[in-house]
Amino acid sequence: MKQCEILVDASRDILSNIEEGVHIVDVAGITVFYNRAMEVIEGLREEMVMGRHLEDLYPEWTEMNSTILTVLKTRREIINQEQTYVNFNGKRISTVNSTYPIFHEGTLVGAVEIARDQTVVTDMSQKIMDLQQRLLPESPKKEGKKTYSFESLVGRTPEFLKAIALARRATRSSSSVLIDGDTGTGKELFAQSIHYESKRKHKPFVAQNCAAIPETLLESLLFGTSKGSFTGAMDRPGLFEQADGGTLFLDEINSMSPHLQAKLLRVLQENYVRRVGGSKDIPVDVRIISAVNEDPLSLIEKGILRKDLYYRINVIALHVPNLKERREDIPILVDTFIREFNQTLDKDVWMASDLLIATLLDYDWVGNVRELKNFVESAMNMIDEEEHVMTLNHMPSYLSRGEEIVPVTWRVDHLKEFESLSAYLKHQEKAIIQGYLKFHRGNISRASEDLGLSRQNLQYKMRVYDLK
Ligand SMILES: Nc1ncnc2c1ncn2[C@@H]1O[C@H](COP(=O)(O)OP(=O)(O)OP(=O)(O)O)[C@@H](O)[C@H]1O
Ligand SMILES: [Mg+2]
Repeated sequence: MKQCEILVDASRDILSNIEEGVHIVDVAGITVFYNRAMEVIEGLREEMVMGRHLEDLYPEWTEMNSTILTVLKTRREIINQEQTYVNFNGKRISTVNSTYPIFHEGTLVGAVEIARDQTVVTDMSQKIMDLQQRLLPESPKKEGKKTYSFESLVGRTPEFLKAIALARRATRSSSSVLIDGDTGTGKELFAQSIHYESKRKHKPFVAQNCAAIPETLLESLLFGTSKGSFTGAMDRPGLFEQADGGTLFLDEINSMSPHLQAKLLRVLQENYVRRVGGSKDIPVDVRIISAVNEDPLSLIEKGILRKDLYYRINVIALHVPNLKERREDIPILVDTFIREFNQTLDKDVWMASDLLIATLLDYDWVGNVRELKNFVESAMNMIDEEEHVMTLNHMPSYLSRGEEIVPVTWRVDHLKEFESLSAYLKHQEKAIIQGYLKFHRGNISRASEDLGLSRQNLQYKMRVYDLK
């Protein structure tokens, strides 16, 4: 007791004022220190707690659910563990605790618990889970909900066709698929296409982004919770149970902590889940498609992705190439999106100009197909009713590389800006030649072929118009 008091005294000032709740007990479980933050978290007063035994204060606590009792027994620290319990006043508290044994000259003299209040987060999480559960059973098959299939995947380049061929092969089995590709390359489209063309298509496709929610909630969401468990009071099936017979798409799986990755691996190996706080093993038949937006091997190297889990989820490895690596698909993607937005935005756009396409071919597209699609949507919004060709003039400013001169058939009113017809035609000729040169990346032979001019004639005109 004496040794413990010395220890507490030395730390008292610091511990009294920190934001985390601090609770120190001696080896018998009697409280010797209890700070302000802990008072706020638990709704208790220091004088009510001091000198009392844990069993009196927290009637629900056992070694099973109390980190502080566990540490006194095992003499080993516990880091960041969630704990939910009813306190002395009957209030339900959720905390994330780190609890350490205190030794003096090799003898255990007590334990210190450092707690962060999670009550609000946990309550909110419960509400989100309730809501998600109410929405989920209908969502995969819900009438009118857009689902994707291979027909939605646009692209003809060899790199892209290779990915499609592999994905089609994946529809014939239930093996795990790991899709890797940068943001916006179409990973979710691939995942859905595989599901909706597999024999599981009449069962749910359930997608969960692992980066979108906090770790403890993700665990409950995936595996479900059991009545009386530490995270709440309800019996709730997790996504594994909800996707039974179908496919579970785990997006950004690398955001999962190694601890949760280990739990996931166990489920995948044994084909059953145990709800959080539950004791029953529930058999599940779920196909796993996961996605990462970084090279999986470098994720392993950095210690972010567990190697054992990687081997289990990477039975079929599907790489989706960046748009930059398949630039030749840009024109056909633009065409597809124009047709799509003609419908939804009620426009009548026929095509994109060559100069615009040439500019788009040159652009970096770090956001890949998603960025291209967004570009087409914003350009469509810039197009007037009487215009039918998308040009540089409709580009959002961040992409813009100057004004495009639109040929006479497209915009008659443009003529008014020129002194004479011949000046206008020269202007047009220059714009068209410039467009074709850009389209062919300065290749004079190809541009002259498309323009129906001899090489020499084209070179002459390039000199006249000062084009390079
Ligand atoms: N090959 C394609 N053909 C047609 N549309 C595509 C193609 N690839 C992607 N898209 C479209 O691009 C957008 C982004 O696709 P998706 O959500 O599948 O990307 P992602 O790889 O999952 O991105 P993130 O990593 O950011 O989640 C979607 O609107 C999708 O319809
Ligand atoms: Mg995605």
